[in-house]
Amino acid sequence: MAGQIRQRILSGMRPTGRLHLGHLHGVLDNWKRLQKTYECYFFVADWHALTTNYEYPQDIPSNIEEMVIDWLAVGIDPDKVTMFVQSDIKEHAELQLLLSMITPVSWLERNPSYKEGQQQLRDRELATFGFLGYPVLMAADILMYKANKVPVGVDQLPHLELSREIARRFNYLYGDVFSIPEAILTDVPRLPGLDGRKMSKSYNNSIFLSDSPEIVREKVSNMITDIERPRLKDPGDPENRCVAFKLHRLYLPPERLEVIVSECKAARRGCVACKNELAEAIISQMAPIWQRRKSLATEPERVKAILAEGAKRAREVAQSTMAQVRSALWNRHVR
Ligand code: TRP
Repeated sequence: MAGQIRQRILSGMRPTGRLHLGHLHGVLDNWKRLQKTYECYFFVADWHALTTNYEYPQDIPSNIEEMVIDWLAVGIDPDKVTMFVQSDIKEHAELQLLLSMITPVSWLERNPSYKEGQQQLRDRELATFGFLGYPVLMAADILMYKANKVPVGVDQLPHLELSREIARRFNYLYGDVFSIPEAILTDVPRLPGLDGRKMSKSYNNSIFLSDSPEIVREKVSNMITDIERPRLKDPGDPENRCVAFKLHRLYLPPERLEVIVSECKAARRGCVACKNELAEAIISQMAPIWQRRKSLATEPERVKAILAEGAKRAREVAQSTMAQVRSALWNRHVR
């Protein structure tokens, strides 16, 4: 696109709670790589959080702050990226409204997340207009910044496909305003949690970026290792049976893994030693993150200022896009 030198990336996260190691290795490590070469917009999707958590809006503001502290602590750099909160940019709501006019309800009802969400979150009433329209709001987020690439997990692909269809439909009806965004699939294996299942807040098996070293030690020491190895003198099978070993693979160098496998199989190494080694490896990797978290916690004004500056930059782009949208819609529409 004319004048746009670097490709533009946009991605968002719902502020549903504290971030854990799964987010770090699954999403944030990738964002850190992308911020080096692309013009990045990373935002907190607080209105999206409201679609499922509208009964508990009081949690959302503190979740926003915690999440942004996590982003900064892991190394998302506000000098390189535009970091903002969705609800600070009211233009998203206007664009969502206009896009909703051209989006057939059948596209939204077909979306797998709509039905799955209703089935999985049975304690909430999710047959709402807002939840059905979730992908329209997401399309507004993406199209507003004319993002070329959108890093997402596989679960978000149907939403992205809808954004592309909505963009094409708008361009067809009113003239070319939007670029058609493409997914960057973050192809990282799911991080195993403390019980071997995928790390997820709802499974209660997570190590959070905000945990202290003591908590990491305690959580790791309570892990179940090889259930078919109740005693030290029984030979283990770490590669096939041990949950801790799944994490060892991510945190220890290959030469240590070899030693562990051979000692465990020969019943010369106990599970406590393995868990201690794992905890210390996680702790040493997290130390710089904790340090930055601590210093950020003492300057709440800094987080506010970063988000205000991000909102200012985002708003400029949003206002310019909306001017084009309105002009395409009202002035050039002659058929
Ligand atoms: N739906 C995304 C999720 O739950 C969050 C999100 C909202 C998003 N708007 C977006 C992601 C735009 C990418 C682009 O993870």
